Amino acid sequence: VAYKIAVIPGDGIGPDVTKEAIKVLEALQKMDETFSIDFKFFEWGSEYYLEHGKMMADDGLEQLRKFDAILFGAVGDARVPDEISIWQLIMPIRKQFQQYINMRPIKKLTGIDSPLKNDSPIDFMVFRENAEGEYSNIGGRLYQEQPQEMAIQNTVITKQGVERIAKYAFEYAKKNNKTKVTSATKSNAIIHSMKLWDETVNEVAGDYEGIELESYFIDALAAYFVMRPESFEVVVASNLFGDILTDLGAALVGGLGVSPSGNINPERNFPSMFEAIHGSAPDIAGKGIANPIAQIWSAALMLEHLGHPDLSAAIVSSIETVLQEGEILTPDLGGKSTTSQVGDTIVEKLKQQ
Ligand code: NAI
Ligand code: MG
Repeated sequence: VAYKIAVIPGDGIGPDVTKEAIKVLEALQKMDETFSIDFKFFEWGSEYYLEHGKMMADDGLEQLRKFDAILFGAVGDARVPDEISIWQLIMPIRKQFQQYINMRPIKKLTGIDSPLKNDSPIDFMVFRENAEGEYSNIGGRLYQEQPQEMAIQNTVITKQGVERIAKYAFEYAKKNNKTKVTSATKSNAIIHSMKLWDETVNEVAGDYEGIELESYFIDALAAYFVMRPESFEVVVASNLFGDILTDLGAALVGGLGVSPSGNINPERNFPSMFEAIHGSAPDIAGKGIANPIAQIWSAALMLEHLGHPDLSAAIVSSIETVLQEGEILTPDLGGKSTTSQVGDTIVEKLKQQ
């Protein structure tokens, strides 16, 4: 099989970590002749914006549509407001391509030092709603520069939107022999949208005998993530809650430098998009020290999505070996190595498998 992959390296450390992910994929396709990947690069992002006044080409989505998947670096640049970089590039892709599932594994690989005293294994999956919720551009500003100035930002929760993410979480639990799904809510204070969330998740849970649904208010759940992360199996959350919970989860398992994600279109009528959960990291951009593991792992999630769980597992196991050996690590993990040295070492381990 030959896959067509669209690559959007983006801004800051995005291109650096994406280069390493491609290095690993290319090494893999040399070793395994049953599959090949054709990469096409799209130089969209903040530089493109400064030159053309837009984050991507006018027919950008039309161009991307034809690909089997998208590998995305990161966007964000001090010269471009975040609302433009995010809302003109990532959001249109996520929304137009109906990538309504954001999957974020929170898994502590061996070799990672946990910041927690309790060093129990952590391995759960968070499904974050990715198409609606709190990240809506409905609302506005009123009475600007007057004492009564105000802003209104609406949250959009639809029954169908909650149903499909909840179903996806329960289906995943079923397929992977999990016993419990945890729902993040706040229906005690957010009494309209979060009540619809709760009711709908409850209804979906009714179709899955043998899988327990537990529901926690987001504030308490954040605390439980720290106090007993080993107790979670599958977590389902709205767009904002899922965003915050997964950065917290990432911090428990090695940080943003090792945390991958997939934006999934389950119906497969559009390409899905894979990206590290971190941003463009302007504080370390251009220094060659960004950790490429999150992006390499995201590429592994992409291979799994394309139907190659074995190749995906081979990449993750090579990452794990490098972490265990602890010799070639970037500064965020306490090492002194560069982005490309880590990528090279992961490729070496892959060849030794
Ligand atoms: P960030 O994730 O870029 O950085 C947060 C901290 O984590 C920084 O100290 C950074 O150095 C560190 N970090 C992140 N990735 C790392 C890696 N691979 N290796 C080592 N250290 C790493 O988040 P921040 O600073 O809040 O946002 C920076 C820019 O990125 C903003 O413009 C923001 O809008 C954008 N952003 C873009 C995202 C995307 O493209 N999907 C997601 C999150 C933020
Ligand atoms: Mg985030």
